[in-house]
Amino acid sequence: MDDLVALCKRRGFIFQTNEIYGGMQGLYDYGPLGVELKNNLKKAWWASMVYDRDDVEGLDSAILTKPSVLKYSGHEDTFSDPLVDCRSCKSRWRADHLEVSTCPACGSKDLTEPRPFNLMFKTNVGPIVNDESFAYLRPETAQQTFTNFKNVLDSTSRTLPFGIAQIGKAFRNEVTPRNFIFRVREFELMELEYFIEPTTANKWHDLWVQTRFKWWLDQGINENSLELLSVPKSELSHYSKSTIDIMYKFPHGLEELEGIANRTDFDLGSHTKNQNSLNISTKVKPNLESNAKLAIHDKQTKKWKVPYVIEPAAGVERGFLAILNDAYKTEKLDEGKERTVLVLKPHLAPIKVAVIPLKRNNKELVEKASMLKSTLQNLHLGRILIENSGNIGKSYRRHDEIGTPLCITIDFQTLEDQSVTVRDRDTMEQKRLFEADVPAYFREFFI
Ligand code: GAP
Repeated sequence: MDDLVALCKRRGFIFQTNEIYGGMQGLYDYGPLGVELKNNLKKAWWASMVYDRDDVEGLDSAILTKPSVLKYSGHEDTFSDPLVDCRSCKSRWRADHLEVSTCPACGSKDLTEPRPFNLMFKTNVGPIVNDESFAYLRPETAQQTFTNFKNVLDSTSRTLPFGIAQIGKAFRNEVTPRNFIFRVREFELMELEYFIEPTTANKWHDLWVQTRFKWWLDQGINENSLELLSVPKSELSHYSKSTIDIMYKFPHGLEELEGIANRTDFDLGSHTKNQNSLNISTKVKPNLESNAKLAIHDKQTKKWKVPYVIEPAAGVERGFLAILNDAYKTEKLDEGKERTVLVLKPHLAPIKVAVIPLKRNNKELVEKASMLKSTLQNLHLGRILIENSGNIGKSYRRHDEIGTPLCITIDFQTLEDQSVTVRDRDTMEQKRLFEADVPAYFREFFI
């Protein structure tokens, strides 16, 4: 993990938030390369969940959430971790993360009994501060999706099965944020709520586990780095009937990358009006505040029914860490040399192509490079960079280390015969192409 953390800082993937003031625990900023990789990962998820399917709509909802939403969803009562205090050094720990009842900071055994600590952040809304003026920062995007169920249904005329996809920030006041970006207090979720006939729940649950597992392989993760885990009943979230986690071998151990849960009719049943007339299968808090019926009218039986939900929910940060970890390689070269290379899938690479003029201050070479950069940039396949350091060897090493799939060098021969050198990151092979053929080559490489 240390090598990865060092690379992330050195090359501008990830910085600690507010580092110049000492930083804040569990919060990170994404630098020039990090933001590109993160955006590319989110784009890949959106394409596979929304564009490549015909049964999913998108949504982008507010982060600030009305307390009633998280009251009826069960989060006010149950979204907590067991907290213990060390009476000797006053540090705080998650009881379920301690292997023995000993303080990891000072070794004392004098710990308090575990007590629930609610993970939701609160903030004040508007100029008046009182007990009613607060809102929560959402702990998951899912609740805003459920409360928009009727809006999406009415505006799109969908029938079952169909899904609503959302990518966005979530906030959890984790007791012990740790392991770099693995457990943080502000992160992004990629969540699909897939609404189905209750009798088809097992079939859809299995299908979504397979679909999501394959998607991670398509992002370049090695199959041997992944495992499926059926979450034991005692560890299920309050809304879940059954959850399968896709686990990844992170540098610190095998941990959850994504969870695929069968949320039954719990959420729509919790937020709907007229609960008593809807035959809800799970135990929900009586709701007299909601003004919407979150159900579907079955044309055959002429009855209203509350759909079940299968939810694949993945964290962007954990995906980012897993992808970087699997892509990171050090390779032995000739003459005892070594190179670090990020073998990222081209669609995820932060920089798609580095265009390198052989000589830094040569006007003709730099102009040619700029023109090629513009041509490739206008294909809108991602960021193209001019690498104007004047040192080809160093440029190749730098771009290997940040995962740039192709480097194109403009040299003096280019001025004579309009040909350029194209170097492949993975094979390090170089070939000469005519400049006019580069856009087609580039397009084929990246699509
Ligand atoms: N809506 C369901 C839900 O939020 P979750 O298992 O609590 O389920 C989903 O979270 C995913 O979000 C996890 O699989 C993980 O990838 C990511 N995640 C959860 N808590 C996180 C945290 N504190 N820091 C980074 N990622 C987190």
